[in-house]
This record gives sequence, structure tokens and C-alpha cells, in this order.
Amino acid sequence: MASAFELRKFVAPEYIFGVGARELVGRYAKNLGGHKALVVSDPGVVAVGWTDEVIASLSEAGLTHALYTGVSPNPKAHEVMTGAELFQAENCNILVSVGGGSPTDCAKGIGIVSSNHQHILEFEGIDKVQMPMPPLICIPTTGGTSADVSQFAIITNLEEKIKFAIISKSVVPDLSLIDPLTLTTMDPFLTACTGLDALTHGVEAYVSNASSPMTDLHALEAIRLISEHLVDSIKDPTDVELRTKIMQGSLQAGLAFSNAILGANHAMAHSLGGEKDAPHGECNAILLDHVIEFNLPATPERFARIAEAMGLDLRGMDSQARKKALLDKVREIKQAAGMDKMLKDVGIRIGDLPILSKKALNDPCLITNPRKANQRDLEVIYGESL
Ligand SMILES: [Fe+2]
Repeated sequence: MASAFELRKFVAPEYIFGVGARELVGRYAKNLGGHKALVVSDPGVVAVGWTDEVIASLSEAGLTHALYTGVSPNPKAHEVMTGAELFQAENCNILVSVGGGSPTDCAKGIGIVSSNHQHILEFEGIDKVQMPMPPLICIPTTGGTSADVSQFAIITNLEEKIKFAIISKSVVPDLSLIDPLTLTTMDPFLTACTGLDALTHGVEAYVSNASSPMTDLHALEAIRLISEHLVDSIKDPTDVELRTKIMQGSLQAGLAFSNAILGANHAMAHSLGGEKDAPHGECNAILLDHVIEFNLPATPERFARIAEAMGLDLRGMDSQARKKALLDKVREIKQAAGMDKMLKDVGIRIGDLPILSKKALNDPCLITNPRKANQRDLEVIYGESL
């Protein structure tokens, strides 16, 4: 693990957290020099009304807008390119995303394509973005992906059936308006998917090779908040206090993983999502206990802190008992959240494992995994999750 005295960088956007944050979008868009905004959202978010509210706030502040809702879950490269054409055709000069990870990542993609004039596929990998994108304000409406505070954009390349990561300081938004009230329109399945995604962010950031005291702080608190409150917030979707705890957990998990990066869980979930177009959080949840079991020997003390953050008392337990307690707890959360599927339930067969493992091996998230994993290791983990 990294020394506390090592040089470290921590990147985060300006963010405003709390009920009512979304209403500030018009004022901030104007402050950032916006004249015409491309509002990137998706049909589900439009249907529940958050997008219209944002547009009204922009209009009130004197901005005009164009609306782009051609975004599907797991945003596709061609959707980014169509959005970038619209940004240019409509002479927009600022981006506003309203929604979960999909519209947010799509807006990031539109931003970098618009200022770099290259196809989105050209930016795959770490630090490939040369020119900064136009200002981007995010209004997240899910408590999980944290794309609104991260230096990640995840885009699907349909031709090759892969999800690829763009990791760059250039895709950190200028401002995130994080309003827990937006979570009250999430259905139980979306709450569970995004919550398990956020929990995975916390766990992976905490055990990452690139962790640091500043990311540890956020990662552990995120694990604590999500483990304690996710299941209750699924049961009682209109409880704003519970939603606020989940939104804060998601934010802190995002601040942690954006800076400490992730690990095998996300590398394997990206590979899975590219192959089956399954929800990202569900892919993470399927793998979570199995990846923890693989990684645990590399950093047992860190996993003990994770177990404690999940509310477990490990005193008097030997290493085997600690491991069992942690894995049981993770499985209990998965089950209570309704996220206890196996790979076969999302259409994966044993014959798919070699290609899934091969793709996961190339994902940049694997670089920071605490235990070195080869293709065979990944295949075994997938096999255990089957
Ligand atoms: Fe994620």
C-alpha cells in the first residue's frame, strides 16, 4: 500500500450537495459563460420531470437550449457522435447532463469530441484528451455511478462489444449539483443497482494500489453509509433522509474511486456489460463477493477495516472467521437488495468465460487491483460467479 508521504493528487469538481441544489443550474450555467446549453438526458429521466425543471431554470437565467435524449443505458459510441453533431449544429457552448451515469458519460463524450474533433473511440485509455471540453454541469439523478464527480467516462463500442474507459482530468465536470431529492423517483431495481455499484466503488477504491489517506477517508465512509442505509432506502423510496445518506455515500465513493481508481471487479463488470448490455451495477453485484474472496489475501487488514465499516465486530476472530464474516455480510446485503443473481441469470454460459476474461484483462481498472490477476484467475472468478 502507498505511503502517507508519497506525492498525491486529488481531483474533484466543485459540487453543491443538498436538497434544492438542482435549482441552481441556471445561475451557474450563466456564470460559466453559457449562452446555449445542450441538455443531455434520457427518456426515463425526462418522464419523471427532472429534465424539464432544469430547462426551466436555464431559461429563467436567459439561456437557450437544445435537448438530446438519444442516450441508452450503457451509452454507445454512435450516440456520443450524434450528440456532438447536435452540439455543433445548434451552436451550443455549454453542456448540462441530467440523469444517471449514462447521460453523464455521454455528455462527457460529447464534450471531448466537440473540442478535439476526433471520433470518441480515439480517446480510450488514460490521459488521451488534449483539448479541454466545454463547461459541463451535472445533475445526477441516481445514487451510484458518480460519473458527475469522476475523471472516468465509460462508453460502449458496439462493433467490438466492449465497454471502454476514458480516464482523464479533462472529463471531470466543472460543477455537480447533487440533489438527493432526485433519488426519490428511482425504482427499487435502479436503487439497488446503483447502490451496489457505489458500494463496489468504495471497496475497490479502499483496497486499490493507488489508494491514499484522502481517498481512504471517503471510501470507508461510503461503505459505512451504503451498507447501513441502502436496503432501507429501497423499502422506503420517498424517505429523503435515507436518500440523502445514499447520495452522500455515492458522492464519497465517487471522490474515492475517481482518485484511487478501481480494480478487478470493475474490469470484469465492464467486460460483462460490453458483452451482454446488462446494468452496470448488477454486473458489479454479481461479482462482488467473488472478487473480494480473490483479493482478500493481498490485503487482509484493509478488508478487515471494510468489514468494520459494514458494521461487523471482528474481535476475537481468526483470519478464516473474518473472511467468512465479511463474505456473509456482502452476500446478505446483495440478497436483501435483490441483487443476488448469478452470471447464468444474465445469459452467460461457460463457453463465454474465455472471451470475457480476455477483455477484462485489457481494462485499465485492473492495473490498480491489489492482487495481480492473469486471464486464468479472471476466468476462475467468473466461473465461481456462474
Ligand atoms: Fe461503477
